[in-house]
Amino acid sequence: MALTEWVAVAKVGDLDDNDMMMVTAGPEEILLAQVGGQYYAIDNWCTHAGGMLDQGILHAQNLEVECPLHEGYFHLESGAARVPPAEEDAIAYAVKVEGDDILVGPKDG
Ligand code: FES
Repeated sequence: MALTEWVAVAKVGDLDDNDMMMVTAGPEEILLAQVGGQYYAIDNWCTHAGGMLDQGILHAQNLEVECPLHEGYFHLESGAARVPPAEEDAIAYAVKVEGDDILVGPKDG
């Protein structure tokens, strides 16, 4: 599912640089990552077999997250599946900061 509106999911300071965490936006469980001061958000559930990406490994140099179950990789900005067995792209979200709040929303809205 995709978000249809902006949702505050965390506070600035909840997440260190070069780190990631799971956040929720209504029913959606989303991986929020910060790399080089930029925030990125994609679905937290691996499209291969439902691994929880927040339990995986952040490869900050390539803007990728590695799934903890079978080592599939996803690009944090686009959600693109980069390394098999991940084949189906993850939904990617837009992220913005307003005051103290980190918000995620639809990429195209
Ligand atoms: S569940 Fe993520 S690579 Fe298999």
